[in-house]
Amino acid sequence: MNYIGSKYSLRDFLEEGILKNVNSDYKVFCDVFAGTGVVGAHFKQKGFKIIANDIQYYSFCLNRALVGISQVPAFDGVLDDGKIVPTTLICDATDIVLEYLNNLNGNSGFIYHNYCPGGTGGAEFKRQYFSDENGMRCDAIRMQIEEWWQSGKLTEDEYFYLLASLIDAADRVANTASVYGAFLKHIKKSAMKPLELKRLGIVESDEEHEVHNVNGQELVERLSCDVLYMDPPYNHRQYCANYHVLETLARYDTPALKGVTGLRPQDDQKSDFCMKRRALPAFDNMVKKTSARYVFLSYNSEGIMGKDEILQTMGQYGKVDLMTRDYQRFRADVDRENRVYKADQVEEYLFCLNKQ
Ligand SMILES: C[S@@+](CC[C@H](N)C(=O)[O-])C[C@H]1O[C@@H](n2cnc3c(N)ncnc32)[C@H](O)[C@@H]1O
Repeated sequence: MNYIGSKYSLRDFLEEGILKNVNSDYKVFCDVFAGTGVVGAHFKQKGFKIIANDIQYYSFCLNRALVGISQVPAFDGVLDDGKIVPTTLICDATDIVLEYLNNLNGNSGFIYHNYCPGGTGGAEFKRQYFSDENGMRCDAIRMQIEEWWQSGKLTEDEYFYLLASLIDAADRVANTASVYGAFLKHIKKSAMKPLELKRLGIVESDEEHEVHNVNGQELVERLSCDVLYMDPPYNHRQYCANYHVLETLARYDTPALKGVTGLRPQDDQKSDFCMKRRALPAFDNMVKKTSARYVFLSYNSEGIMGKDEILQTMGQYGKVDLMTRDYQRFRADVDRENRVYKADQVEEYLFCLNKQ
């Protein structure tokens, strides 16, 4: 998933910095700002017990699947009642269930009526986050998953497996430049492709992993872990505003949407790390309160908190190291119609604290 601040392409950099510093007796790894779950899934594969957390519910669903599931689900409850007949020669349970959901007829529900041109045509604000066909596919699949869950046909692992697959599929066909702060005026090519659920990469593991959906600032105070990995927002862009459509798809809670972009109420999900005056005190408090022996912070040279103030803050609690990596970041220039891409040199930081 194309997610602001995703560490997908930096997994090797994180692995090198974290494994180099952490004594191998320390095995409980908390990814407290977990986003897409790629960091937790990576360190799960390395043998850690993972505790993942994020304040956004769509992120909880992704992490509940990628981190929380350790064996590919069997979908016995859905398949045992004999109603699903595979249309091809597939015999894998997950493939059969995904094929069934992918072939459902569209249904006009909350997504279609609030985020699609057909559904919002006569309304005050016309929105185009999905094509009509994909909006109705989202609704049909989301409703079917909920019906199976409510009628006891899915285990909790299976429920979140399907929700995570749907969130990922919807994001691939979203009619946006990248985030949901705005939609495009014309349906772009990738948004015309039919929404398709795909299999998730499940990391098998014998550990019991935990996934939470709370404010990480509170969680660290009551959590016991060895390694605390922090990857908070770097700038003023709130995730609740930039991914509000995925939040609604995940919750499917029919909120009252506001304005042309259709923002959902989100005051309780705003992050202190997106606010200049609050970020550093919030960070300091988390580093102070955690029981973790090792604290790692991913950040970059364009963030709200400065490199020196981070070093000074962490330095109060023990020995600090800093690893850096340069990368080229491409960003669209302000002109939306004639987008010009500019290359910026950004430095990626990994701060490592050995707490005394
Ligand atoms: C930079 S992203 C993390 C990206 C993630 N490491 C990945 O690779 O996908 C920051 C995440 O922090 C979450 N977040 C922001 N403030 C939070 C808070 N106070 N508690 C928990 N999560 C928070 C956001 O929802 C977002 O998913």
